[in-house]
Amino acid sequence: MQKSPLALSQIFEPIRADLELVDREFVRHVQSQVAVIPAIGKYIQGSGGKRIRPAVLLMAARLSGYTGDRAVLHAAVIEFIHSATLVHDDIIDESELRRGRVAVHSRWGNDITVLLGDYLYIKSMSMALMHDTLELVRVLCDATLHMIEGELFQLTKNFDAAITEEEHFEIIRRKTAYLFGGSAQIGGMLGPTTPEQQGALRDYGFNLGVAFQLVDDLLDFTGDAAALGKPIGADLREGKMTLPLIHLLSRGSERGDVIVRDIMANRSATEEQWNELLGLLKEQRSIEYAERRALDYAECAKKSLAPFAPSAERDALLALPDYVLQRDR
Ligand code: IPE
Ligand code: IPE
Ligand code: MG
Ligand code: MG
Repeated sequence: MQKSPLALSQIFEPIRADLELVDREFVRHVQSQVAVIPAIGKYIQGSGGKRIRPAVLLMAARLSGYTGDRAVLHAAVIEFIHSATLVHDDIIDESELRRGRVAVHSRWGNDITVLLGDYLYIKSMSMALMHDTLELVRVLCDATLHMIEGELFQLTKNFDAAITEEEHFEIIRRKTAYLFGGSAQIGGMLGPTTPEQQGALRDYGFNLGVAFQLVDDLLDFTGDAAALGKPIGADLREGKMTLPLIHLLSRGSERGDVIVRDIMANRSATEEQWNELLGLLKEQRSIEYAERRALDYAECAKKSLAPFAPSAERDALLALPDYVLQRDR
């Protein structure tokens, strides 16, 4: 029998105290005389994100033998960048719900939210510069630029039912995997690590990030809106083709093609259309196909940790890919 994966809180137990400090650091750095900044900052901080990226950084730092207190700051930096991404992404995607709550732009409007996102981005870099750690800032810029490129590339492919699998993976790598990779790499850079170990951590995070986004896209078909805190079926309505649909159309499903194009054209799906589409995805094993790809990336993430000796810290990082595959939120 397969072991059931650990819950996120169990995996994060060794770094629980540090994660609480990350949240405090987050709030500390949204302090401003301009009251709307701490107001939105606290709204974001208190809205219950999973904190996976900062946790990866903290665990990677421990695995690398780092015992200082700067990991917390850098973990907060990563969560700032992630938060900026989400508030901008929800404007672009016209998503009204995030983490089960009203999205920032739905409450404060697009103008304020764009600038708040900008503030978080620049603030993250200024936080990372507090200790003159230029090489860390380089990694952060690289990850953030890839992420923005991913979002831009995705926009140019929106409503394109003919997007290829390779183009789709390019979007996923850029918009999600680089930031995961950077989180793990920065953890490694804090400790006394070899370049090989830093590269291994980056690969770990990168592959975990691809798996994470593939699962996020799968949950848009298989998930539960209440658990996810965002509506399901949203990607296709937003014009986003994800791996299960790309697989379905590559199998030559004419009916699938018609429904996909119809939902994108109307920007909405009837219950009948949605159910028929789910049936086709099942028939062509398209969900299984995407699950298999996510599994491959998760396994690849685990294998990347081979250059590290077995330890409790390594075990925690090894448990995360399994969690990601099984997650419901
Ligand atoms: C959401 O990321 C954006 C994606 C890359 C799919 P998370 O699912 O990590 O978001 P929170 O922080 O837990 O809400
Ligand atoms: C994730 O993309 C956002 C970024 C990584 C930039 P999605 O648009 O799929 O994320 P959700 O579904 O809104 O969380
Ligand atoms: Mg979105
Ligand atoms: Mg999504």
